[in-house]
Amino acid sequence: MDVIDRILIDQAAIESRVKELGAQISQEYAGKTITLVCILKGGLMFLCDLAKHITVPVMYDFMSVSSYGDSTQSSGVVRITKDLEHSIEGKDVIIVEDIIDTGLTLSYLLNNLLSRNPASLKICTLLDKPDNRKVEIPVDYVGFTVPNEFLVGYGLDYQQLYRNYPYIFVLNKKYYTNNAE
Ligand code: PRP
Repeated sequence: MDVIDRILIDQAAIESRVKELGAQISQEYAGKTITLVCILKGGLMFLCDLAKHITVPVMYDFMSVSSYGDSTQSSGVVRITKDLEHSIEGKDVIIVEDIIDTGLTLSYLLNNLLSRNPASLKICTLLDKPDNRKVEIPVDYVGFTVPNEFLVGYGLDYQQLYRNYPYIFVLNKKYYTNNAE
């Protein structure tokens, strides 16, 4: 399909890295119960696969945020469109994200969630795109460090499509130059 420029991370590589992350988290949280906070919608696929490889007790909760302003550029001004259902006070929380790009979304979320007094708060992202960072983020678990390209699949969308693809691909440039979001 010509929407795909090239596959950056194939299904087998994702599966094996997610399994490793699950094992690492299980080891580090031995004896604890983890609250995984999934940031919708991009984090959903990663959450489901990661949770299968965590062997300590796990609870889920979900948050949805949107940035104000231009949809293709993070503005840093974030609005919560769906909040957590449960208190995280005293809980061991891991935020599960598909990608950290500028870091602006997570910077807001970190401050917001820290103010709710969790016992601990860590970040697990499948993809880290450090070249585009505008604010420093203490990332605890990273699946893959990726180049500054338009990535789609495995949770990441282009105009809300392709999130269900089991691999991560670079979007063909003709889509975002001629047909910008
Ligand atoms: C993506 C991603 C992160 C954020 C990262 O979400 O899931 O939440 O952007 O970008 P940043 O580091 O530059 O702030 P998006 O707003 O595209 O929503 P989605 O998860 O519903 O696709």
